[in-house]
Amino acid sequence: MVHEIALTIKPTMNCNMRCRHCFNGDDLNASGLLDIEKAYWFIESACKEYHDIKITFHGGEPTLAGLDYYNKIYAFQDKMKEKYKVKFSNNFTTNAVLLNEELMDLLISHNALINISFDGPFNYLLRGDSDLVYERICSVKEKGGHVRVFCTISRGSYKHLLNIYRWFNERDIDFKILPIEPRGYAAVDRELLMDTDDFIIFLTDTYRYWVKDQSCQIRFYTFEEFASLRSDTQFKPFWFNREIALNPDGKIYPFGRPNDIQFCLGEPSADFSLTECFSASEYIRMLQILKGYRNEYCTTCDSTHVCNGVCICMSYMYVQKPELLRYSCNQSNKIFSSILAVNDEIMQDIKEGRAEKYTSIVRKKFGVKE
Ligand SMILES: C[S@@+](CC[C@H](N)C(=O)[O-])C[C@H]1O[C@@H](n2cnc3c(N)ncnc32)[C@H](O)[C@@H]1O
Repeated sequence: MVHEIALTIKPTMNCNMRCRHCFNGDDLNASGLLDIEKAYWFIESACKEYHDIKITFHGGEPTLAGLDYYNKIYAFQDKMKEKYKVKFSNNFTTNAVLLNEELMDLLISHNALINISFDGPFNYLLRGDSDLVYERICSVKEKGGHVRVFCTISRGSYKHLLNIYRWFNERDIDFKILPIEPRGYAAVDRELLMDTDDFIIFLTDTYRYWVKDQSCQIRFYTFEEFASLRSDTQFKPFWFNREIALNPDGKIYPFGRPNDIQFCLGEPSADFSLTECFSASEYIRMLQILKGYRNEYCTTCDSTHVCNGVCICMSYMYVQKPELLRYSCNQSNKIFSSILAVNDEIMQDIKEGRAEKYTSIVRKKFGVKE
């Protein structure tokens, strides 16, 4: 039996920042706010059927719903925790412009991982308010909160990836990178896109540096995931039936990404079952469509054994155009191949007694007994 569920709740698709590359594109002009009652029903239905419930607020820009909205949401969560004896983990993904003291305190008191979108020294390339957002990141840290930066890498910044890593490390800020994808605005403004082969070179060089960087004091989430990759292990074995989203229109969708609004799975109500969404005819139809894409793309891909189609499925949740799907699939395949080659070298080094070259986190990922 599956005990975990990841809920994405999007209170609004509206946004107060016009990022040049946003995959939501013009959806950001939609002004509707999710009826809070629907959010309550959604959360309570998860509590009735699962033990471990991860809730991510996303959008659009979730802070636009206002402090009062989240005071009510987290009070409700506290009530549900008591009533159903469940475990919650909270994530909140924001551009941080409206992340004021009160909201920070509320999120920190609920142990939320606060994901702040910010591109370090190259933030100005894609978005505004760089100084303000940096201040917000520092404030969350000073308050003892848990912050993770989402750093988008694009044409203007990818050649400086090593410096970006050092920049975050010097400031003791945990982060992960999001390589820009041709989706939404970035599908139109192709000047923002990277040369894939070139990107892989910079990415791999930086990974090689990171695995041995004894000065690393931060969590670099992307590279920690890379260090777990093995050529004979699927990187995301449980992708379906584990995630579900509630959009501002009060309806449920498979993942809460722009293209999955084709597959409406229902609407929360007082006596509704979340697990039934995964056997809804629209969920089955989505699985059939994805099976078709996997047959088309995965049979000739070198990374099939690691990816098992997750990359193409994930990409389809954002966009449908074959050209854009091919871009993401090709990029993922090349990342897997290049990083797995480095991981093979690390394993060889470890086998031959040279484990001390690597940082303790890397040694741990590779199963070295200390
Ligand atoms: C779409 S925003 C929504 C949540 C919130 N408003 C925020 O700014 O974090 C979530 C993240 O997706 C990233 N993102 C948006 N469009 C992207 C694209 N075309 N390629 C890669 N990442 C993208 C953003 O940079 C941001 O870090």
